[in-house]
Amino acid sequence: MSTQGFYVRPTTCATEAGIRDKILANPGFGSYFTDHMAHVRWTKNGGWEPGEIVPYGPIMLDPAASVLHYAQEIFEGIKAYRHADGSVWTFRPEKNAERFRRSARRLALPELDDDTFLGSVKALVGQDKAWVPTPKDDTEECSLYIRPFMIASEKFLGVKPAKLVDYYVIASPAGSYFKGDLDAVSIWLSQNYNRAAPGGTGAAKCGGNYASSLVAQQEAEANGCAQVAFLDAVENKWIEELGGMNLFFVYKDGRIVTPELTGTILEGVTRDSILQLAREEGLTPEERRISIDEWRDGVKSGEISEVFACGTAAVITPIAELVTPEERIAGGRQTDIASTLRRKLLDIQYGRAEDRHGWLTQL
Ligand code: COI
Repeated sequence: MSTQGFYVRPTTCATEAGIRDKILANPGFGSYFTDHMAHVRWTKNGGWEPGEIVPYGPIMLDPAASVLHYAQEIFEGIKAYRHADGSVWTFRPEKNAERFRRSARRLALPELDDDTFLGSVKALVGQDKAWVPTPKDDTEECSLYIRPFMIASEKFLGVKPAKLVDYYVIASPAGSYFKGDLDAVSIWLSQNYNRAAPGGTGAAKCGGNYASSLVAQQEAEANGCAQVAFLDAVENKWIEELGGMNLFFVYKDGRIVTPELTGTILEGVTRDSILQLAREEGLTPEERRISIDEWRDGVKSGEISEVFACGTAAVITPIAELVTPEERIAGGRQTDIASTLRRKLLDIQYGRAEDRHGWLTQL
């Protein structure tokens, strides 16, 4: 059988429905996986081979595969949403396909064409549709989190772009990323580590960026915080982003500010959608640098009323405070705009509001 150009290998690996339903009732984030995965191989001489849907399971890699040594790897995060009529949709996947190509260029990996990227997502979700959770009501936030990724599989210890590369897509039923959808979280200001430097890989969605954030994330957790915030690597003054999310600042005069894309910040799909929705709400979006001093002074004077984080996994999460060894800077006193924008976004994603932007694709 073939779907979306992907050959579906006959399989008997489906999880028993009772077990699957138990998982779907309380999936958490990133702990359970569906029955299948998509796979496409690339070789320097032959290009991309035909894709397959195969049973989910361990990948055989040579111990010398270059991804294990030099981290030549990229990934994406997309969600599939079940609407009230049972149909399943995804949100702006063409933006992820485009970013995946940009990340590939930065990591000297082969670019995957958008049709194969989208086809792989459609083929996998088509096969594992039963794994897309059904929200109990309009307030429950559950989805199928889809993780496309590409790794350098060539067996070779020289430092050079691999001639053998594998692309996979796996999927994981997901509840909210943080405990409590709209509960405000504390974040830790990284003192000793930066996430990205000019000319580095900050704008690419590659594993290395996340690996290098982990020690700072450990510090955050040791200090009772859920996430870590990074400043720029040159002046240690400008707010960049969290370990895996973008940031927004709401001003009481109606401005909504997010750090501009300087090449060291990931261009989030949720970030871009919020900029559009905020404008439609009558707010004035600004993409510009914002310093740690502006945050502190703005909250103190009451000029900044809200701070929130956003991402595919986190959706929109209010920030309660920014913690450093010396001080605790409040995140703003309100969550009105964060909750309005969050509701607007989720209503579109779950088909409860008209998709006037053409952001949804049926899977
Ligand atoms: C996402 O939001 O999709 C990410 O990749 C970030 C990660 C923290 C899960």
